[in-house]
This record gives sequence, structure tokens and C-alpha cells, in this order.
Amino acid sequence: MSNWTKIANLEDIPRLGSRVVKRNGQADIAVFRTEDDQVFALHDKCPHKNGPLSQGIVHGHKVTCPLHGWNIQLADGNAIAPDEGHAPCVAVKLENGEVFLDV
Ligand code: FES
Repeated sequence: MSNWTKIANLEDIPRLGSRVVKRNGQADIAVFRTEDDQVFALHDKCPHKNGPLSQGIVHGHKVTCPLHGWNIQLADGNAIAPDEGHAPCVAVKLENGEVFLDV
């Protein structure tokens, strides 16, 4: 069952940036906004060594981890080859300029 919760207005998230949503006792979520105003949400932990993906550089529909430069696909959280790993995704939707997470 979905439990959509509004977490921000789109304009609160910088384009090519992110916003962190903290959850009690659970992994922080990084919500990314791309150049074309799509939103994606991943656990804020790089699959390599837990770097904060929210502080990475967004380009296209990817984020580059700030620690060692792995590239992670925002749509599915998968590392781009030759790296291997996965950051869990969280369902996110954009409606009328408002961003909702399924938490
Ligand atoms: S922790 Fe992200 S690339 Fe190493």
C-alpha cells in the first residue's frame, strides 16, 4: 500500500541538486532534481563505501559520488559499469509542483 508523503515543493530542491529527507532509525533519503525537472529518490549511501550521494554532482539522470567518483543511475540506483552495486530506490512522484515520497 502506498503512503505518499509530501516532502518539498519542487522549487525547494535545487536543479541539478538534491535534498535530504531524514527518517527515524532508517536510512536517509536523497531526493534529486535533474536539469529537466524530474525527481528521483535513493538511499543517501553510495553502494561503494556509503558516500553521501546527496552531495554528489547530478548530470543527466546520474549522480557522481563525491568520494571516489562512482556514477549511479538515478532511475534504478545501479552503479554504472565497470563499477557494480546498487543504492535502494524510493518511490517518488511530482504532482502540481509538489514532491511526494512513498515512505
Ligand atoms: S563511496 Fe561512493 S564512490 Fe566510493
